[in-house]
Amino acid sequence: MRFLVVLILLIAGTLARPGRFGKDWDHSQQEAKCGYESCPVAKRDMLNLHLVPHTHDDVGWLKTVDQYYYGSRTSIQRAGVQYILDSVIEALLHNPERKFIYVESAFFFKWWNEQTSELQDAVKELVQQGRLEFINGAWSMNDEAASHYQSLIDQYTWGLGLLNDTFGECGRPRAGWQIDPFGHSREQASLLAQMGYDGLFFARLDYADRAKREANKDTELIWKSSVNLDDSELFTTILYTLYQAPPGFCFDVLCSDEPFIDGPNSAENNVDARIDAFLEWVYGMAEKYRSNNLILTMGGDFTYQDAGMYFKNIDKLIKYTNARQQHGVKINAFYSTPTCYLKALHDAELTWPTKSDDFFPYASDPNTYWTGYFTSRPTSKRFERVGNHLLQVCKQLTALSPATRSSYFQNRLTVLRDAIGVMQHHDAITGTEKQHVADDYARMLHTAFEACGENTNEALRDLTKAPSDIKFESCHLLNISQCAITESKESFVVTLYNPLGHSTYQYVRLPVNGNNYVVRNSQGFELPTQMIPLPDTVFNLNSRESIANQELVFLADQIPPMGFTSFYVTEAYDSQARKDTEPLPKQEVTSIGNKYLSLYFNNNGLLNMININGESHWLQQDFLYYEGALGNNAEAKNRSSGAYIFRPNGTEKLVSASVQLRVYKGDHVQEVHQVFNDWVSQVIRVYEDEQHVEFEWLVGPIPIEDEIGKEIVTRYQSDIVSKGVFWTDANGREMIKRVRNHRDTWDLELNEPVSANYYPVTAKIALEDEYKRMAVLNDRAQGGTSLQDGVLELMLHRRLLKDDAFGVGEALNETAYGTGLIARGKHYLMFGPKASQSVAKERFLQNQVLTPAWMFLSDATDHSFGEWQSTFKTAFSVLPSSLPANVNLLTFEPWKQPFTYLVRFEHLLERSEDPLYSAPITINLEYVFSKFNIYSVRETTLGGNQWREDKSRIHFFSNSVPTAQEPVEDKSNLLIDGYQVTLGPMEIRTFVMEMSFNF
Ligand SMILES: *[C@@H]1O[C@H](CO)[C@@H](O)[C@H](O)[C@H]1NC(C)=O
Ligand SMILES: [Zn+2]
Repeated sequence: MRFLVVLILLIAGTLARPGRFGKDWDHSQQEAKCGYESCPVAKRDMLNLHLVPHTHDDVGWLKTVDQYYYGSRTSIQRAGVQYILDSVIEALLHNPERKFIYVESAFFFKWWNEQTSELQDAVKELVQQGRLEFINGAWSMNDEAASHYQSLIDQYTWGLGLLNDTFGECGRPRAGWQIDPFGHSREQASLLAQMGYDGLFFARLDYADRAKREANKDTELIWKSSVNLDDSELFTTILYTLYQAPPGFCFDVLCSDEPFIDGPNSAENNVDARIDAFLEWVYGMAEKYRSNNLILTMGGDFTYQDAGMYFKNIDKLIKYTNARQQHGVKINAFYSTPTCYLKALHDAELTWPTKSDDFFPYASDPNTYWTGYFTSRPTSKRFERVGNHLLQVCKQLTALSPATRSSYFQNRLTVLRDAIGVMQHHDAITGTEKQHVADDYARMLHTAFEACGENTNEALRDLTKAPSDIKFESCHLLNISQCAITESKESFVVTLYNPLGHSTYQYVRLPVNGNNYVVRNSQGFELPTQMIPLPDTVFNLNSRESIANQELVFLADQIPPMGFTSFYVTEAYDSQARKDTEPLPKQEVTSIGNKYLSLYFNNNGLLNMININGESHWLQQDFLYYEGALGNNAEAKNRSSGAYIFRPNGTEKLVSASVQLRVYKGDHVQEVHQVFNDWVSQVIRVYEDEQHVEFEWLVGPIPIEDEIGKEIVTRYQSDIVSKGVFWTDANGREMIKRVRNHRDTWDLELNEPVSANYYPVTAKIALEDEYKRMAVLNDRAQGGTSLQDGVLELMLHRRLLKDDAFGVGEALNETAYGTGLIARGKHYLMFGPKASQSVAKERFLQNQVLTPAWMFLSDATDHSFGEWQSTFKTAFSVLPSSLPANVNLLTFEPWKQPFTYLVRFEHLLERSEDPLYSAPITINLEYVFSKFNIYSVRETTLGGNQWREDKSRIHFFSNSVPTAQEPVEDKSNLLIDGYQVTLGPMEIRTFVMEMSFNF
């Protein structure tokens, strides 16, 4: 047995696994001919044209998800996904030759759930026969720049899981289909490889890169997607006409190309002319590709609302093209799918070039760099990231409490899963949608927060044994220092749920009205507290409905791994304002610090020096802005800066040269409150026990009275001799080396010296020299760069007055509360001598920033401290102890049957990051889950939709290695050795575990 199945059916009644599909299923399974088996066979001596009918259905863009689904608001866009699916199924049933691929699971399952069982059976049959094929299969076609890998894995798992539940193996997509995202990350390719995909198709890459690749027939390649993982190569095809049909051959109702007119006696008969034009175009395309197979994407945005019309003409295109074979034309056209195309390339036994960096940034012409969307809509990007955080907490709590086992609560969890899946879409997290759609995404997230809030409340009430009047609520407005419970209740309980596998501590900050508070832990100890006034710029925010003018700070220590601890807070009856709330008198030299580091501010109020281990280094922080280019977009050099595009007009201005300061020092934290001008302020803080510096920036409303759009950046300047090199993360995981003004695989023509150097920073940007290193972690995705040695720059916020002409049709000019949108967020800076563990510490901090302990608040007015202490369960942990520091519990969620859980562990470091922590590490599941009774453990591929022992990817050969035999199936990692799980650097392993618990 390759995997461990310990089926001790102690509770066989509850664990019995009813087949999810009746006998019919098994029957059709035997006859199933989907996937590679269903592929038309390419002809060796001909040019094979794989015609792939498809529709690109944005999960929100110019219209909301539901407006697209139901086809409303046709004045904005004629697009109705329900009609597309209705119509496509009918057209497929009409002619068995036809094939279609469907991509977005968010739309598909909306439609599926509305169909009769007869139609569902017909669709299942189409899937079994490989005529309807799911490609990509994630909830949405995600963006690759701003999205975080935790959310990507979740949204694939969600879509792929439903496909497997509904269609079994024939519903498993073999190809990635990222045809519209604006640039491509290496991590996306790596995740696809780990999920067992055989290949990836995309369209958007730098115009110069495309030109060079087409000239050299390097349009298909083997992407080496990880420097850490085995089996991470992914075959990649760059599509030829983005994802549109060949020019002139879009037969959709949305297009106006000519149909085939083939009446033999018709005066309008155009068959010969049309086929001549088609063949000419095909020969041109064939010059750009290596094999005798070409993939032609027959579709576009929301095509196939009238599928019969499109299919009928493709039927004829195929028929009349192949008729030319009689005249010696060696072209063979047929309906195909990306899967079948991959198979044909595989069977062609060619060798392919390789690539090991990524496809960022994407420039569509010499002046048009799609680097603005790395930052566009900063508050929406943060909201999404908080959503991911809550989702992890909600999954765990829902899984851990018997009280949330019912389908009602499982469905509440689904609402948030759906929402986070939708947010990954390439017009959602990117900020490239219309304003009304952005509003709808925010509404959807809010609803999902409320839904999962029911679960967390119910689970915590159960796990804490709290009386029924106690509620566990979240304060979602802490980002503007507002929270009803802490501001209005004399006594309240703070419960911190830690979703990580490591015990942790956290500085809790709560907006309050009183002057002083007593905070007690469950042992009854009074904890030291600190009170800090809010900066005026926060206190005065229009959006606040709060009179709290200070924050109570305390250190919540020993928060157990995957568990919670709570604190009882009571307002103290001394009306005296505390001394630590007074700003310190102005001093010759302003400095703040702790035992690890000190920061010094110059006479202008700017940070300009850091002292670490007795050594001082220049470290200056400034805010600047670029003015957005304004143009008519008619030609490249007239491109405007907009939602997608970052194009500064050449000016770069300091927000302010002189800054007002207030300094506060207490036992927990020292802070400098800076005011740069009316619309930029910041708090720089150092906590007593932290080795990083926190920068909490507040930007907006960005002024536009001068009719100039502005893009605000923060710059961290040091004297690190970085020699043009810096590093940015890919979706929060592996770091990618960037070299200023340089591309690895072509000569960069530098027309846009700033925006051409911008890269996505999902989690971290860093630079270093032999001696020193500086890294900045962020709390949402942003664009970032290093324009000079030693300097890191991140874009925080943008407000622009003109559209950049890529379809949105609106300027990115966000407003709220009657003025320009204000955004607030954090950077975490680590600076220091390059030493062992410095990168490891960044990795650990990154994890803390992403999923810290979630704070729940409960009104405890009616429950005294004594009662709380004696009757509530005040601490709880699922794990017996912390996981090793470099192992992360990436996923813990309720799975398909009761008592089954999807569990993922990952190694947090890359191979070369740390001499100690990068080493492979072994954990023992029996120990980790010793509080559970484990019945079975079965490993899956990363998406959770395929058993690990069934994984077998088709292999392509690079032209750098001589053709070898197919590699032996990779079995190295199967769980063979009892409960031991070994993780190599950056490795993620996924398990379905059957277990029960009684905490
Ligand atoms: C996928 O679905 C099939 C058919 O129901 C099932 O046998 C298999 O266990 C599922 N795979 C996973 C990994 O859940
Ligand atoms: Zn799209």
